Amino acid sequence: MTIDTMEKKSILFVCLGNICRSPAAEGIMKKLIEVEKLDLELEVDSAGTMGYHTGEGADPRMKRHAKKRGYNLTSLARKFDPEKDFDHFDYIVTMDNQNYSDIKGLDIKKKFNHKIFKMADFCKNNNITEVPDPYYEGDEGFSHVIDILEEGCSNLLIKIKKIE
Ligand code: 4NP
Repeated sequence: MTIDTMEKKSILFVCLGNICRSPAAEGIMKKLIEVEKLDLELEVDSAGTMGYHTGEGADPRMKRHAKKRGYNLTSLARKFDPEKDFDHFDYIVTMDNQNYSDIKGLDIKKKFNHKIFKMADFCKNNNITEVPDPYYEGDEGFSHVIDILEEGCSNLLIKIKKIE
């Protein structure tokens, strides 16, 4: 199917707090789809498995690192809502193994298995198995997360364009 006939699809990125990794993934993917003029075909959002930071903007350290690479992070944190998000989103992309098993665990009837992914699934480097939590790390941790997310988002978009 060509992009002209692509049905609208939606992606939800999920981490723990929704203030570091998943808002960065959201910002990176939004930039990619803006550059490719796919804004009308793809909806992008992010959420956390915990609600502790609900309503907050992205962590200032992540905002600063993202800005250096040309990404503006504007989203506000929210908690993953199993009642709405499983139905609504086509791709639910988790950052680490804990997020992945938490989201799988919320899918009580195992109806949405086919929608739940790990960001590392889209990274060609086999050494990348998770997007590590940078919250207690220094500058390098944040920069490393953005490296992984740039590759993962780019490959995920290629996959979506091929399938849809
Ligand atoms: P994130 O990082 O899951 O990438 O948003 C974290 C943010 C906050 C906390 C842990 C990780 N926290 O413990 O408050």
